[in-house]
Amino acid sequence: MSILVVGASGAVGGAVVAGLLDRGERVRATSRTPQKLALPAEVEVFAADLDDPASFTDALRGVERVFLYADLAEPEALLATFATAGVRHVVVLSSSSVTFPGAAEDFNGSRFLRVEEAVVRSGLAYTFLRPGGFASNAARWSWGVKGESAVPLPYPEAVQAPIHEQDIADVAVVALTTDALVGAAPVLTGPERLTLREQVALIGDVIGRPVAVIEQTEAESSAMLSRFVPEVWVRQIIKDWREAVGATPPISDEYTRITGRPSRTFRGWVVDHADLFR
Ligand SMILES: NC(=O)c1ccc[n+]([C@@H]2O[C@H](COP(=O)([O-])OP(=O)(O)OC[C@H]3O[C@@H](n4cnc5c(N)ncnc54)[C@H](OP(=O)(O)O)[C@@H]3O)[C@@H](O)[C@H]2O)c1
Repeated sequence: MSILVVGASGAVGGAVVAGLLDRGERVRATSRTPQKLALPAEVEVFAADLDDPASFTDALRGVERVFLYADLAEPEALLATFATAGVRHVVVLSSSSVTFPGAAEDFNGSRFLRVEEAVVRSGLAYTFLRPGGFASNAARWSWGVKGESAVPLPYPEAVQAPIHEQDIADVAVVALTTDALVGAAPVLTGPERLTLREQVALIGDVIGRPVAVIEQTEAESSAMLSRFVPEVWVRQIIKDWREAVGATPPISDEYTRITGRPSRTFRGWVVDHADLFR
């Protein structure tokens, strides 16, 4: 049987493909634009769109387990297609936001909850990966670091426990290749709490030149982010930063419990992606 990775062009999806190949698994991969994928020849590649369940028909032949993103317009129709094709287990990249109080009313929490609930109702075996904020969110700072050696931020003292995308992929690979995580929903975080200011300083440390933080108002930050990110996300990002000032976000030990290894640090993430900032 093959394992299907939906979104193989993504940071997490691409790392899942690599991890499965390392284990000698038979891997299929999809993308809405498969021509942009550069994968080893043994990976069978298909065009498929989560918004169009019928587009998965060919990709699902002989597939027992699927990794997928939770960006689903109509999860019920997609999951019915999976079940009909013989899929047994889905591993969904969800979010720790589903565990927060008031998640059902929160823009971010509710969109993941809706998908998780549809998966449970589908009767398929499932694993929900629930990461907190990604270390890769710092990639948004690359232009400021490269240009002015400065990162404008409204809430530099916001505290996060950023997670490396490779850690999420490692847990996905365990879920896709064993039965250890059937029915599990591990919350995944990085190993340390860092303010945004400390993250910026670490980037400077790794690339060997200081990077300043320029304090902004919310309005300035909102205007800047709106050039790259849809409005609804701008509000969410700024709200998350505001609420994280002085916070003590929980640190999860699930990565180590599941893989037996220490989770990767933010510094490690910057080292792995230093070219973004040079
Ligand atoms: N950033 C955070 O702090 C954070 C925290 C918790 C959860 N998350 C969640 O993690 C995900 C982002 O992970 P990432 O960094 O790996 O993402 P990424 O690098 O931006 O890749 C996103 C992937 O999703 C696939 N995709 C999106 N819409 C699709 C559709 N309609 N049909 C098929 N594939 C689709 C894309 O595939 P193609 O374009 O190739 O089709 C792409 O491979 C998001 O769902 C986000 O909400 C993020």
